[in-house]
Amino acid sequence: MASVVYVELRERRYPIAVGRGQIEQLGEWWRQTELGRRALVVTDTNVGPLYGPTVRAQLEAIGVATTVATVPAGEASKTIERWAQLQYAAVEAGLDRSSVMLALGGGVVGDLAGFAAATFLRGIRMVQVPTTLLAMVDSSVGGKTGVDLRCGKNLVGAFHQPSLVVADPDVLRTLPAREYRAGMAEVIKYGVILDAALFETLEAGAARLTDPSWAVLDELIANCCRLKAEVVAADEREGGLRAILNFGHTLGHALEAATGYEGFLHGEAVAIGMAYAAELSVRMAGLSPVERDRLLNVLRAAGLPIRASGLGVEWAHVIAAMSLDKKAADRVPRFVLAEAIGRVRHGVEIPPDVLKEVWDAIAE
Ligand code: NAD
Ligand code: GLY
Repeated sequence: MASVVYVELRERRYPIAVGRGQIEQLGEWWRQTELGRRALVVTDTNVGPLYGPTVRAQLEAIGVATTVATVPAGEASKTIERWAQLQYAAVEAGLDRSSVMLALGGGVVGDLAGFAAATFLRGIRMVQVPTTLLAMVDSSVGGKTGVDLRCGKNLVGAFHQPSLVVADPDVLRTLPAREYRAGMAEVIKYGVILDAALFETLEAGAARLTDPSWAVLDELIANCCRLKAEVVAADEREGGLRAILNFGHTLGHALEAATGYEGFLHGEAVAIGMAYAAELSVRMAGLSPVERDRLLNVLRAAGLPIRASGLGVEWAHVIAAMSLDKKAADRVPRFVLAEAIGRVRHGVEIPPDVLKEVWDAIAE
């Protein structure tokens, strides 16, 4: 049985189906969503061999002509060069305006294929089949697509909503443990920004945070999708509210860029970014030290890093990268800060000396 969450947008809505075994229902979801007869499945070198045959079989069984394009696994594939390769792959696969790109993989494949779909023939339909925890709770929902530049994360991209998201938590059994932990960072984020009860569930289940067989996992994923769907419905293009989804990401993205996208997984960088934002929140937004410590404890229990020490990352690189963040205005970074667990404010400018002081504290 799937939990189905709808993202309600002005001109249309789309379903997110969350449930064990749902990858075997992809053909049925495709039919119900009235998607096209030709598809390019974009996947990576780890996920393709595991789940590519199932996805292909599901599509071919309902008469969809299917071609698979495989990119190397990892953030290094989120480039303009790979995007260009996918445009040519789409031509070779005979895609037209009624065709569909399907992203089978984590956030890297989702962002890259999403951007390829957003631009091919000025935009064709897109389906997300996320296979990491991070992609299930965050990147597959909401239509942010794009690639990195060497100087900054996600600097080129487009808003392009999927027509369908199918998330099957069974596939998390093959996900490496470190990747699973990184995805849990985004789950924790939802608790901090929007949902104190969800945060309490994570606290109560601290011993199960690294265990993909945790009984409440499916419900947690569906809840995170529900929270994200509400935010996206209220502010699809990030005119304001949607920025709260970037709690921990200002420093997180900067750490990724400053380490050439090789030092951390995205979720690990975001975990350090949330620890940083929590300390800034104590100083600038009235977060109590007790609540900051609750967040740090949950991050620790999830096996996530909370300090930037010993990484050889220079403040000069970090502040330069934060100034290029998409939320920066006139190159001054803006932060999402927590007032309490479950309540945040966004667009906060912080005095440079406070930014540096708090960095020194987490990097020493
Ligand atoms: P990822 O896509 O690199 O996947 C992580 C690793 O796990 C890869 O090696 C992949 O091959 C492997 N993998 C994936 N699923 C697997 C499975 N079921 N079994 C075995 N191996 C599997 O990383 P990610 O953490 O999913 O995504 C990170 C990316 O998402 C970053 O680029 C980040 O910027 C982006 N992101 C985008 C949004 C958005 O709103 N668009 C939100 C958050 C993050
Ligand atoms: N992950 C941030 C967003 O979707 O807005």
